[in-house]
Amino acid sequence: MRVLSVKNYEELSKAAARYMGAQLTLKPDSVIGLATGSTPVGMYKELIRMNQSGEIDFSEVISVNLDEYKGLAGDHPQSYRYFMNDNLFKHVNIFADNTYLPDGQIEDDQQACQDYDDVIDCVGPIDMQLLGIGHNGHIGFNEPADAFTTGTQCITLDERTRQANARFFAGDMSQVPAKAYTMGIGSIMKAKKILLVVTGADKAEILDKALNGPVTPSVPASILQLHPDVMVIADEAALGI
Ligand code: PGA
Repeated sequence: MRVLSVKNYEELSKAAARYMGAQLTLKPDSVIGLATGSTPVGMYKELIRMNQSGEIDFSEVISVNLDEYKGLAGDHPQSYRYFMNDNLFKHVNIFADNTYLPDGQIEDDQQACQDYDDVIDCVGPIDMQLLGIGHNGHIGFNEPADAFTTGTQCITLDERTRQANARFFAGDMSQVPAKAYTMGIGSIMKAKKILLVVTGADKAEILDKALNGPVTPSVPASILQLHPDVMVIADEAALGI
């Protein structure tokens, strides 16, 4: 794993966008795995700027996102489909048909997971997967567990995850869906390159565990120690500097 230490969130956003931008320059038809949450928002803004100024092109890019809340339609403002449209897709020249997320509206868990595994198999391998990390070490919505997940899962969200995400639901945790569909850790690990972005002192403890602690499904991100090509871009607060 390589760790790039940057001063603050603004630098992190720029460095992460440059890293992904270089991937698109080298391989314009890249398959990129994308993530939601607060951390990538600044990076997405920078990618939009780079696209609008002609530095990078999304016209041949295919994207597959990590996760989606079960039960939310794509036009629900808190769905991850909505988030991606709002924060990236509608501002760049990516074709909507080339953007994939799990379908939160499929009731049948097995069907939803199978469908998304089929999508990943069909468009993969993922050239570069973007990840954030949860306070409990989750990647995607793969929460701490007894074993690492392989393919797409229907996950019951941890209390802490729902609390953290309540900020997107006007602070009302009861509105945060109880379940989500998430790409499995096995699929994440098959990506050729992984970019993990981490900001803020509140992530310092879990980032240290993920990078330097034992590889254990109780800290899902610790599996990244076994991946051959991981770039961690973290600000000084997240690195405890
Ligand atoms: P955050 O989420 O970027 O909003 O902190 C990260 C995550 O939960 O994966």
